Amino acid sequence: MIHFDPFDYEFHENPYPTYRALREEAPIYWNEEIGFWAFSRHADVLAGFKDWEHFTNTGGISLEVGQLSADSTAVLSILAMDPPRHDRIRALVSKGFTPRRVADLEPSVRALAVHYLERAREAGRCDFVADFAGKLPMDVVSEMLGVPAPDRDELRGWSDTILHREEGVRGVPPEGIAASGKLLHYFVKVVAERRRRPGDDLASALCAAEIDGEKLLDKDIIGFLYLMIIAGNETTTKLLANAVYWLQRNPTARAELRADAALVPAWIEETLRYDNSTQLMARSVSEDFVYQGHALRRGQKVLLLIGSANRDERVFPQPDLFDIHRDTSQHLSFGRGTHFCLGAALARLEARVALEEVLRRIPDYEIDEARLVRVHSTNVRGFAEVKMSFSAR
Ligand code: HEM
Repeated sequence: MIHFDPFDYEFHENPYPTYRALREEAPIYWNEEIGFWAFSRHADVLAGFKDWEHFTNTGGISLEVGQLSADSTAVLSILAMDPPRHDRIRALVSKGFTPRRVADLEPSVRALAVHYLERAREAGRCDFVADFAGKLPMDVVSEMLGVPAPDRDELRGWSDTILHREEGVRGVPPEGIAASGKLLHYFVKVVAERRRRPGDDLASALCAAEIDGEKLLDKDIIGFLYLMIIAGNETTTKLLANAVYWLQRNPTARAELRADAALVPAWIEETLRYDNSTQLMARSVSEDFVYQGHALRRGQKVLLLIGSANRDERVFPQPDLFDIHRDTSQHLSFGRGTHFCLGAALARLEARVALEEVLRRIPDYEIDEARLVRVHSTNVRGFAEVKMSFSAR
C-alpha cells in the first residue's frame, strides 16, 4: 500500500520516490483517510487539465478544506472559474497582459536584477532567496500592477503567510486567512484609487478593459490582482532558487552554461521539468463518472501531480537525470488547456534575465547545502533560504 500525504514534511524533502511508486502501482490513487484522488502519470495529468467539463476548477485548485473566502473566485479569480465565464474574464484580463507589455518589461527586469546582484557582490555572500529570488518577481509584478516600492515587502510577507503550512496542519491556518484579508483590502484601495486617477499600470488597464460593452467589476479586478501576487511570486522565486541549486549539483551543465549563456532557456525548461515550483493542481469531479475503471463521485478532489508527470518515464527517458539538452516540450509545469499559465511568458522572461545576470555577475556561486531550508506547502516546492558565497567585487 502506498502512503501519499501531500501535507507530510518528509514527502516535501523528496517527493519523487513516492511519485514513482504511484505511477507504477496506483496511477489513479485514492486516499481514503483524507479523501482525494491523485493522478500521477503524464497522460492522466494531461487528461485532467484538458477535460474541464469533468474536472472543474470551481471548487478551487487546492486540496485544503479551509477556504480563504466563501467565494473562491474572490481570491482565485479566473483560476476558480470554468468556461464560458472563465474565458470571458480571461479575455478581458489578458488585455492588460499582452506579449508586448511583457516584452517591454525586459529592461526594467534587467535593471532590478543587476541592482540586487551588485549589492550582494559587495559582501561576497547572500541569501539567494531573501536578497534576490524573493525580491525580483515581487518587484516585477508590483511594477506591472502599480504597487509602490515601499509597500512591496509587506505584500510579500502576506503572500508568504498565505502559503505557509505548519507540520500536521491541514487547511488554511488563521494567520493565512488574516493575511489574505489584508491583501484583499490592499487591492480594494488600489482599484478605488485607479478608478479616480488612472495610471499606466495593469490595474488601470483592467479598469478600462472592455469586450462587447462588457467591463470588469471591481471584485473581478481585485480578485485578479490578488491572484497575480500569489501566482506570480512564489512560483518564480522558487524557480530561480531551484535553478541555481540544480546547476550546482550538475557540474557538467554548469561548465557548459558558463561557456554559453544561450543555453539559459534550456536550463530554465529543464529546471521546470525536473523540479517544478508548482507540484500539483487540484480539481473537483463535476459529476459521477468512470475514469480508467474507477468510479469518481461528484465533489471529490483530484490532484493532478505535475511533479510526477514531469518525471514519467513514458514521456521523458531517464527522467531522474537533470539534462539541459533533453526535449522538455511536454513538461506540464505551466498546466495545459483552459487554465494554461497566463504568466508563462513573463515567468520565462524574468527567469532568463535573472539567470543570465547570475551567470555574468556571480558565476562562481557556492551554495551552502547544509544550510538549505525548504518551504512547506502542499503545492509549492522550493527553498525558503539558500545561503551562498561568491567572489566579492
Ligand atoms: C515558474 C513560474 C510559474 C509557474 C510554474 C506557474 C504555474 C502555473 C500553473 C500550473 C497554472 C495552471 C493552474 C491550473 O490549471 O489550475 C498557472 C495558472 C496561472 N498563472 Fe502561473 N505560473 C508561474 C508564473 C506565473 C506568473 C509570473 C504569473 C503572473 C504574474 C502567473 C499567473 C497565472 C495566472 C493568472 C493563472 C491562471 C490562468 C487561468 O486560470 O486561466 N503565473 N500557473
